[in-house]
Amino acid sequence: MIGQALNRVDGPLKVAGRATYAYEHWVETPPLYGFIVGATIGKGRIARIDTDHAESAPGVHHMVMTHHNAAAQGPRDESIAVEYWRAKPALTGPEIHHYGEPVALVVAATFEQARAAAELVEVEYAAEPGRFDFSTHMDEAYAPALVGPGIPADTAVGDVDAAFEASAVKVDQVYTTPYELSMPMEPHACLVEPRGEDLTVYVSSQVVDAAQASLAATLDIDPARIHIVAPYIGGGFGSKLNIHAETVLAALAARALDRPVKVALTRQQVFHLTGLRPTSSQRVRLGAARDGRLTAIAHDVTMHTRPDMEYGEPTAGTTRSLYAAPNRSTTHRLAPLDLPQGEDVRAPGEAPGLLAVESAMDELAHELGMDPVELRIRNEPTVDPERDVPFSERRLVECLREGARRFGWERRPTTPASVRDGRWLVGYGMAAGIRGHFQQPTAVRVRMEADGTVVVQSDMTDLGTGTYTVLTQVAAEALGLTPDQVRVELGHSDFPASWGSGGSWGACNSSTALHRACRALREKLLSTAKDDARSPMYGLDLAEAQFSGGELRVEGRSEPMREIVARNHPDGVEAEGEIPLMADEPNYTDYSIHTYGAHFAEVGVDADTAEIRLRRMLGVFSVGRVLNAKTVRSQLLGGMIWGFGAALQEEAFVDPRTGAIATRDLAQYLVPVQADIPDLDVTVLDGHDDKANVLGSKGAGELGICGAGAAIGNAVFNATGMRVRDFPITLEKVL
Ligand code: MOS
Repeated sequence: MIGQALNRVDGPLKVAGRATYAYEHWVETPPLYGFIVGATIGKGRIARIDTDHAESAPGVHHMVMTHHNAAAQGPRDESIAVEYWRAKPALTGPEIHHYGEPVALVVAATFEQARAAAELVEVEYAAEPGRFDFSTHMDEAYAPALVGPGIPADTAVGDVDAAFEASAVKVDQVYTTPYELSMPMEPHACLVEPRGEDLTVYVSSQVVDAAQASLAATLDIDPARIHIVAPYIGGGFGSKLNIHAETVLAALAARALDRPVKVALTRQQVFHLTGLRPTSSQRVRLGAARDGRLTAIAHDVTMHTRPDMEYGEPTAGTTRSLYAAPNRSTTHRLAPLDLPQGEDVRAPGEAPGLLAVESAMDELAHELGMDPVELRIRNEPTVDPERDVPFSERRLVECLREGARRFGWERRPTTPASVRDGRWLVGYGMAAGIRGHFQQPTAVRVRMEADGTVVVQSDMTDLGTGTYTVLTQVAAEALGLTPDQVRVELGHSDFPASWGSGGSWGACNSSTALHRACRALREKLLSTAKDDARSPMYGLDLAEAQFSGGELRVEGRSEPMREIVARNHPDGVEAEGEIPLMADEPNYTDYSIHTYGAHFAEVGVDADTAEIRLRRMLGVFSVGRVLNAKTVRSQLLGGMIWGFGAALQEEAFVDPRTGAIATRDLAQYLVPVQADIPDLDVTVLDGHDDKANVLGSKGAGELGICGAGAAIGNAVFNATGMRVRDFPITLEKVL
């Protein structure tokens, strides 16, 4: 059952429009609608805010909330290790930290009335000069202590400068990557319903436990008073790891008015009110001997941060584990800018980092006149080169070889700009992919009802990625049931707590915890049967008992589980399973645990217009044991498509005069569409990583993007002989 390409169990609900998303929930008292008014300066203060006109607009008999009348809120607490759990106060004072920051919430009887009245809020600003332009403020960057929980900003082994200087062949280049945003299909939305002292919060959130804690800290109330409901989520890509202003403002308004309040971000507001992937400038130095063996790897990253909300992504993080080299260093620096905070966006760190490193490896292969696949294989490490611990299941070389074989890599043009197909210059490119695998605390409960069906509960979420389906498979396999005998309930803070969906950890973590819960439930069922004089199992040694076909079977005897449960536990019998934080699991210290991939791309570049088309692409991945062949393929496919976007399209432009994101809709902030993407080929190696967890599975969600963009960029070089180091590779850079 585990691993099968089971269709999504929630698919029929979604197709029929019966899966209810945050903004669609309905509550007894008709909700009011809030609309956020955003600052139209990027730095300064509110000198005067006049809400009189807005308050007398139709439907706005309720309130306009500003920093003058918003309730006091808890401060952000930096001692909480992970941002997702920190308070997110809003409307706390007249200071403006970035363009679009909320200055008011207009609450009206309908959404349209609230939006119309929002236009009538009059704000006078005292603007101050802001730091909006990364290139002019890059040299103000400072060294943070960490770039992610427990991830040091800098590492060094040997003497990288001396080794680089002395090396026979050198690449020393700077690659730049733009601001990017998560842009899930469902914009951020929330409905808060007050019930006495309690709040029920219907919110689009990746991490229910964090939403509860963060909102409680913001409102300065007991988390037990907050009930998060998030059964369905229309994507997140990192932007729903944290709650944002819509949730905080809906809660403040609901409490102030003692009425349910809905607030959603418009697509334009998503650009300013959720976090950006920081823009980055990355210097990569690779020094090698003539045979291709690396002697030095240095990866120095500078990116932007909001000054009062430090965030750096571990852009050079996987450079620490990817290739062997005796001398190495990685650094991360943060340049404060008056822009929205940085946040996790689709493989935070690896995605932009591998764009740079895997482009540099291609440059090195070109300098050496060597096959880029062979160059990577030649630098395969035997142990983690910085941590000096063994790798768990590491099959990068197999991904590279299998990919080369399947793609027909031997047919690649070895001389750039040498192959033409009509008006198209044709090129091949490849890149390696790597991503860390993480384990976070997760608890799952499983209960067998008296009718023999099973209910699984966790506050884990399903972003559309397949959690409902995968957990159904894990429970069905462990308990010998069919999928339709299992019901999975997710996304509610009353259920056992988890770290939700993020960092690609969700499916493995919740599956592993569920597997443990099922083991515990099996033990309970076995001892119940053994002690039950009415059971045919009575008194037997049940060590070899099988759970199959809804029955307990041993030594030629069997009994339906529902009969055992109905006789002994008429209200059902349940058990919980848990997994700890990776720091408390020795394998995560003793081994370097990653997932791997290899991407191969063929592009055509129009010889006259420089239009770039992806002609075909293959990704070969190693993610340990596959939990569901269909959902994992969809995840990896989606990741490759994001990689295409990162290579060729995606880029948020900041207006250097105001700090506004100029490209704040999906007509100007380009993401791949159907017409951009040919039929992509995804191959997942059959695997099992016994160091990762008892199921042998590792996080797959974000691996697909890792290296994908570099493969496409390298193919553009192969097609044209033009090396573009400023991503995305838009056509004017190739002309
Ligand atoms: Mo992912 S960026 O950790 O949701």
